[in-house]
Amino acid sequence: MKTTVRHSRGAYEVELTDLASVLGQLGGQDFVVTDENVRDAIRLASDHLAVQPGEGSKDVQTLGRVWEWLAGRADRSGRLVALGGGVVGDLAGFAAATYMRGIDLVMVPTSLLAMVDSSVGGKVGIDLPQGKNLAGAFWPPVRVLIPIDALRTLPARHFANGSAEVWKNGAALDERLFESLLAQPLQADAKNIAEIVFQCIELKKAVVEEDEFETTGRRAVLNFGHTVGHAIEQAMNYEGILHGEAVAIGMVVESRLAENIGVASPGVADTIQKGLQSQGLPTRIPGGLAAASLIEAMRRDKKARRNGLAFAFVSQIGTSKLIEGVPENDVLKVLENQ
Ligand code: GLY
Repeated sequence: MKTTVRHSRGAYEVELTDLASVLGQLGGQDFVVTDENVRDAIRLASDHLAVQPGEGSKDVQTLGRVWEWLAGRADRSGRLVALGGGVVGDLAGFAAATYMRGIDLVMVPTSLLAMVDSSVGGKVGIDLPQGKNLAGAFWPPVRVLIPIDALRTLPARHFANGSAEVWKNGAALDERLFESLLAQPLQADAKNIAEIVFQCIELKKAVVEEDEFETTGRRAVLNFGHTVGHAIEQAMNYEGILHGEAVAIGMVVESRLAENIGVASPGVADTIQKGLQSQGLPTRIPGGLAAASLIEAMRRDKKARRNGLAFAFVSQIGTSKLIEGVPENDVLKVLENQ
């Protein structure tokens, strides 16, 4: 299965393939950045840089390590190959966008989350102590190679983590996908897993081709669940919670908020919560997180403006829109009642 994503500087192909074929294609001008878990799981033998797994590696220090590793090896004709999950893709992608003012980037996502979301669309970046993804760029890959067999080695928690973005696509963009997940939650060994990954890529492709630089509000709907989700991740210091888990909680909280302010039809939040629970994802804010600290983190969200917070809300399953200027008091009420 293959598709082509068009963008302002050209186009790239996204292809579903397998690990052996990806590794067999690597040549002398390919510089592989991965993480220690992926390296060990696939027994990577060729030259590479492996960073520590986890969101903590999306920081300035690790970015510096990648730049310096490249500086000893790659000239402008080199290709950086980001082999791993969302953290590796975002970090290595930002290194590719900035090393020698930009070198080619090949995304090889090995986690479900990276396959269905972060490897496509050109967003790359790192976190700052003040907030998630605060330094970054739009740097489209030259190719995305998806080794679907990598899902077999993905730990169950990380599979469920990635499934949150699949549920998000269904809830925000495609009612039929959502209904099919309600009927049968996603499983790594399901016969149709490749079709579902491909379906998510087609959904994302349509959105990013329409609003590549997130200026019209269209692309922002991919952030359903993320305003609250990012705030939870940040308030927990990225420890004890994975991105998709935080987004799952965020989808439910944001949907309750949307119902309260009359943007979503009654029942949307319960339907989404039921679905996410059936996938084994968390749907409640972890105890001990103060509502005020979450609001504080949301103020630093890139969508927030002076007149209030911004959310990508699902109004009914399959339909979503960006709403700006949401008063903090409305958000506080929902957070305090969770
Ligand atoms: N992950 C959301 C986006 O690519 O816009």
